Amino acid sequence: YVPVITLDGPSASGKGTIARLVSQALGFHYLDSGALYRLVALAAMKRGVDAGDEQGVVGIARSLDVSFADSSIRLDGIDVSDEIRAEACGEYASKIAQYSALRVELLERQRDLRKLPGLVADGRDMGSVIFPDATLKIYLTANEEERARRRHKQLMEKGINASIAHLVLALRERDERDSKRVASPLQQCEDTRLLDTTGLNIDQVVGKVLGMYAD
Ligand code: CDP
Repeated sequence: YVPVITLDGPSASGKGTIARLVSQALGFHYLDSGALYRLVALAAMKRGVDAGDEQGVVGIARSLDVSFADSSIRLDGIDVSDEIRAEACGEYASKIAQYSALRVELLERQRDLRKLPGLVADGRDMGSVIFPDATLKIYLTANEEERARRRHKQLMEKGINASIAHLVLALRERDERDSKRVASPLQQCEDTRLLDTTGLNIDQVVGKVLGMYAD
C-alpha cells in the first residue's frame, strides 16, 4: 500500500507551497498536477494551438514530453519551471482543464507517480478523481483577499506587477470556471477535511497537515 495525501483547493490557496513542504517532511514524492495542465497549455501555445481546439489540445497532451527531475520542470528537455507560472499560462490552463478528454489523457500520468514511500498531490480533483482512496484528503482554502495578496507577492517576486483588485477578479473568474465545469469540478467532498489557512503562516499550515496525517 502506497500512502497518498491529497490537497485540493482554489487558486492561490497555497497548495503548492504546502504540498512541497509536507512531501519533504515525510520524504514522499510530490505531484504538482496544476503544472501538468500548465505544461499542456505552454506546449499548445508554443505550437499555435487555440484553447478552443479540443482535439488539438488533447493531441498535444498525448505527445507531451515532460520530466519533473530534481525540482526543475522540463518540456522537450528545456527547463520551463518559471515560464509555466505566467498568468497567461494559468489562464490558458484553466480554459482547457474543462475538456474531459484532456483530463482522461492525463489520468494515468498522474497515477503512475504513486510510488513508495508515498505521495503528496495537489490540484483540484486529486481526492475526488485521481486518488479516491487517498489516505488523507484535505481541502485547502483561504479567503479571497488573502489569496489575492499571496498571488501578488508571488508575482512581485518574479518582477511582475499587478493590482490586488485585478487579481481578486482574476481569481474569482478562475475559481468559478473550476467549480462550475462539468468535468471533475473543484468541490469539497464528504471525506475531505477542510483547512482554512486565512491568518496562518506556512509553518502552521504544514504543522496542521502533518498533525492530521499522524492522527
Ligand atoms: O496557480 P493556481 O492555483 O491558480 O493553478 P494551478 O494549480 O497551477 O493550475 C492551473 C489550472 O489548471 C487551474 O486553474 C485549473 O483550472 C487546472 N487544474 C485542474 O483542472 N485540475 C488539477 N488537478 C490541477 C489544475
